[in-house]
Amino acid sequence: MPYPNLMSPTEIGPVRLRNRIVFSAHGTKMSTRGVPDERLVAYHEARARGGVGLIICEAASVHETAGGSSSYAVAYTDDCIPGYRRIAGAVHRHGTKIFGQLYHPGRGDIAGGSDDGTIFPIYAPSAIACESKQLTPRAMPVGLVREIVRSYGEAARRMAEAGLDGVEVMAHHSHLVSQFLNPRSNRRNDAYGGSFENRMRFLVEILHEVRAEIGDGFALGVRISGDEQATFGLRPDETNAIAQAVDRLGLVDYFSVNSGSCSAFDGSIHVVPPMAIEAGYVGKYSAAIKKVVTKPVIATGRINTPDLAEGIIASAKADLCGIVRGLICDPDLPSKAAADTPQTIRLCIGCNQACIGHSPKGAPISCIQYPESGRELQFGDLPPAARRCRVLVAGGGPAGLKAAAVAASRGHDVTLLEKRNELGGQAMLAAALPGREEFGGIVSNLVGEAERAGARLVPGVTVTRELVDREAPDVVIVATGVRRRTPDLGQNEVDAWRLFQILHDHAGEHRRRKLFWELGQANVGAEVVVVDSRLDWLAMGLAEQLALGGCKVRLAVLGYMPGQNIPKQVRDHWAGVLHRLGVEVLPYMRYLGAEGDTARFAHMTGGREVLVRPVDTVIHVAPPVPETELEESLSGYTGIVHIVGDCLAPRTAEEAVLDGLKAGATAELGPVRGLHLLDRAVVTPQARIAMHTTTPLQASKL
Ligand SMILES: Cc1cc2nc3c(=O)[nH]c(=O)nc-3n(C[C@H](O)[C@H](O)[C@H](O)COP(=O)(O)O)c2cc1C
Ligand code: SF4
Repeated sequence: MPYPNLMSPTEIGPVRLRNRIVFSAHGTKMSTRGVPDERLVAYHEARARGGVGLIICEAASVHETAGGSSSYAVAYTDDCIPGYRRIAGAVHRHGTKIFGQLYHPGRGDIAGGSDDGTIFPIYAPSAIACESKQLTPRAMPVGLVREIVRSYGEAARRMAEAGLDGVEVMAHHSHLVSQFLNPRSNRRNDAYGGSFENRMRFLVEILHEVRAEIGDGFALGVRISGDEQATFGLRPDETNAIAQAVDRLGLVDYFSVNSGSCSAFDGSIHVVPPMAIEAGYVGKYSAAIKKVVTKPVIATGRINTPDLAEGIIASAKADLCGIVRGLICDPDLPSKAAADTPQTIRLCIGCNQACIGHSPKGAPISCIQYPESGRELQFGDLPPAARRCRVLVAGGGPAGLKAAAVAASRGHDVTLLEKRNELGGQAMLAAALPGREEFGGIVSNLVGEAERAGARLVPGVTVTRELVDREAPDVVIVATGVRRRTPDLGQNEVDAWRLFQILHDHAGEHRRRKLFWELGQANVGAEVVVVDSRLDWLAMGLAEQLALGGCKVRLAVLGYMPGQNIPKQVRDHWAGVLHRLGVEVLPYMRYLGAEGDTARFAHMTGGREVLVRPVDTVIHVAPPVPETELEESLSGYTGIVHIVGDCLAPRTAEEAVLDGLKAGATAELGPVRGLHLLDRAVVTPQARIAMHTTTPLQASKL
């Protein structure tokens, strides 16, 4: 049997699981007025169909003081029961078990704020603000503490009534239970504060209350951060002692171990650890807890392949493995592992962009590589093409590759032509930056999908109007991406794209700034200013690269901070790296020009001039422009033309792949302009769809 440890059945208390892969809890924003809706049912059913052993539903507020916007799950009224019942029914049909998760954020309040834009009063053991919220909570009176303890029991009872198989109490990530456990956040001098025993009391009472409500036929677990990774968070010695004390109570059936804290900037990096954090690192924390408890331990955190999970279980670091983003990205990961075809798994790259990155935008969860995720009702089961068309995709970046994969999977005859000798477009350049190597996975995953679906991928061929006229495809999907802006560069100014290209072409050698000199390809001096007009990962990565090579780097941003437009965990991690490397950040900087050894800026709102010197080189990280030449040349073409990705409008890889999905899903219906395609797609009067054609484009002749 492939993956004999990971795929073997096991028990958690009274619940038997078909394998040891757990889709650990994660907020999806697919509840309406706090009640799980049909999108969430379809989302979880897709993972159950994909073979996961256990799903743990997202954090659900146990009490109205837990706050939260209405797209978050709540379990403090009976209204939640029908939604949970539908989810349980859907996943049970496929042999997957399902638990709920009981949540109170205390002073953390990650639940998205209120719907009317005002700030909830927040409650905690003591009136001490945390670093991530900067709001002083109200210290809970004892009466409220007891009421909240009871609310955990009532919420668990609702989940049992809905037909779930178990519940998990959140004692991790510095949420309310952890705030009681932690002597730095709990300064009470009543029965709930002071000694270890007193600080444990809140959790112990909750566990008794929940067990009393649900009886022995229902599983009960506790989630704990092995290390909250925060200056004022719980440390491993403390969390191990807590787990051991809980185990001795004999009330819980399992421990779920992860890391991080929602109360602090440093800790929050580990709540959803980005690609720069070592894969599988959580194993050391789960192993420590496993040593001091008698019940099964689930480890979750950057376990992104079945091989890694198998190794963690085989080496007794955990009994089960949680794989969250791995299954957001590929719901079929478990069945592909069971079928011993791990090479077909779409591996999560830890970019955080469309999963946790959607959360602050109030949008439902998705994945940049697999935008079908969270959109199962719309794209979960695409129908085969009604007519088989010859589809020509122009451009082999993420948009073109996704369009090719989806169109081919629906039965179209697809040829993708890419003018460069390499597929992947900008994504390959991005992967050349330190700590971003995994980003290249988006390309290899999409290439694999397109090829397995039967699309022909041909690099080194430029699509022109003449080529299109000659081949006369029924559908052209234009995914030509962007070209570099060509600003008028002064003598000491360099366009960052040139440097990315050099890094890419010399991957492996890139730890040396000297590379740029030695190759004589770019004029980079020892004192540089990176002018960041994008506020994404590019300038941060380049600044790191140059600082690693020994440059004195200043990063001047056209906004509040570098990485303003990327997910918090990625930005916060990188901010720490840059600070350690001595990179100086200059916020609110509008670039005016360079003279001699001086770069001139104006403060974006104050207007006063800021002079930066000495400067040898100014490096511009600027937004690119869409490559529209092919689109313009196709004017009047009688076939269907779709325009997707950055050549429609430069955005991120997420939108490019989503555009590609929409174009592939509607290829024969076009034309398509990237937005709301399924709602708006129409067949143009001049559209010429060649029926039943089977002649492939003659790629070899091109
Ligand atoms: C979008 C998102 C929301 C999350 N929400 C929760 C949550 O509600 N409860 C929880 O205990 N952990 C939550 N997490 C943390 C995950 O359970 C998990 O520990 C984390 O994603 C690391 O695992 P992974 O590397 O397999 O993704 C969330 C993670 C993500 C990506
Ligand atoms: S958006 Fe990125 S981190 Fe999130 S699941 Fe997809 S690949 Fe993984």
